[in-house]
Amino acid sequence: MQVLPEISARRDELVDLRHDLHAHPELAFQEQRTSDRVAAFLEAQGIQVHRGLAGTGVVGVLKCGDSTRSIGLRADMDALPVREQNLFPHRSKHDGRMHACGHDGHTAMLLGAAQYLAARCAQGGCDFDGTVVFIFQPAEESDGGARVMIEQGLFQLFPVDAVFGMHNWPGLPAGQFAVHSGPVMACADQFDVLLRGHGAHAAMPHQGRDPLLAGAALVQAMQSVVSRRLDPLDSAVLSITQFFAGGEAYNIIPAEARIGGTVRAFKPEVEDAIESAMEGLCAGIASAHGVQATLDYRRGYPPTVNTPTEAALCRDVLCKLIGASNVLTEAAPSMGAEDFSYMLREKPGCYVWIGNGLAEGGCMLHNPRYDFNDAILPLGSSYWVHLVKTYLTQ
Ligand code: NI
Repeated sequence: MQVLPEISARRDELVDLRHDLHAHPELAFQEQRTSDRVAAFLEAQGIQVHRGLAGTGVVGVLKCGDSTRSIGLRADMDALPVREQNLFPHRSKHDGRMHACGHDGHTAMLLGAAQYLAARCAQGGCDFDGTVVFIFQPAEESDGGARVMIEQGLFQLFPVDAVFGMHNWPGLPAGQFAVHSGPVMACADQFDVLLRGHGAHAAMPHQGRDPLLAGAALVQAMQSVVSRRLDPLDSAVLSITQFFAGGEAYNIIPAEARIGGTVRAFKPEVEDAIESAMEGLCAGIASAHGVQATLDYRRGYPPTVNTPTEAALCRDVLCKLIGASNVLTEAAPSMGAEDFSYMLREKPGCYVWIGNGLAEGGCMLHNPRYDFNDAILPLGSSYWVHLVKTYLTQ
């Protein structure tokens, strides 16, 4: 296997496409221009296009041969509410919106693969037997565009046997990939705790019930959840990031306080254990302080968990493409989250990281100076093509 010469020959075209997407970033569920470009590109290759899932979602279908086997490949199209600080010509034309997570590159790589596969079929040189479903989803960064596409019938309309995703990864050298068997990204849950006490004059605290002091005790106690209540071999984070209480006055004990934060973990049962421990602490500390505490724990994106068979397949394809020494299989998973997790809850599959190169000045995802590395576009597209050929000829 190799980076395909036909794709390398079209590198400039892919770069222009990527730069155009970068210059015109669109936020979650508003990817109208991007969606139009993607659909037009697929149609120009003779690929059947379906639009409208989750509003701006685009699905392309390419069928070859008689096999009923099918594979789903997914790219995300949305940008972030970030003010770009780059000065290069393809910087964002929209103040306050930016492709700071490289989804412009994900979209371009998948289009490059679609172009190659469709051209081979049109030339009668089709080298797979089955159906490829190209999934371009909105709103990965917030609101779960993948979940909405699934709820609106993605996998009923376009059944796939397995689904695959890819994310660029700064800090991982260009030319390398990381493949995880099992968890690769964490869940992202949010919580609020409302503490209701009884306001009082600060000089007469015994006449009130102080929710602020109860909140302080709760912030401290929450630190024991991960360290004392979970199996030490299970990774998790509980971060309290908000604490609101009081107002202008220095001499009033407030009636209410609120704390909020986020939970990250790799297993649903760990999420359950954390939520349950938090409920217990809220009840106990509220009782001890004579206040009421209400926990609002909200599940966000679930953990992204690759299935072992599909992870092994991706690893094998990549080892043949770039050599085993360039395929990391023992990389630590990330505590960040990813809505491809919803697709992996429905179908077996694997989400890999493609090295974006060593980050200049520590410039990481979501940074206002981030940019996808154009040099890896042909490699990413070639990976998709080899994965399709391997999966649909097994
Ligand atoms: Ni991203």
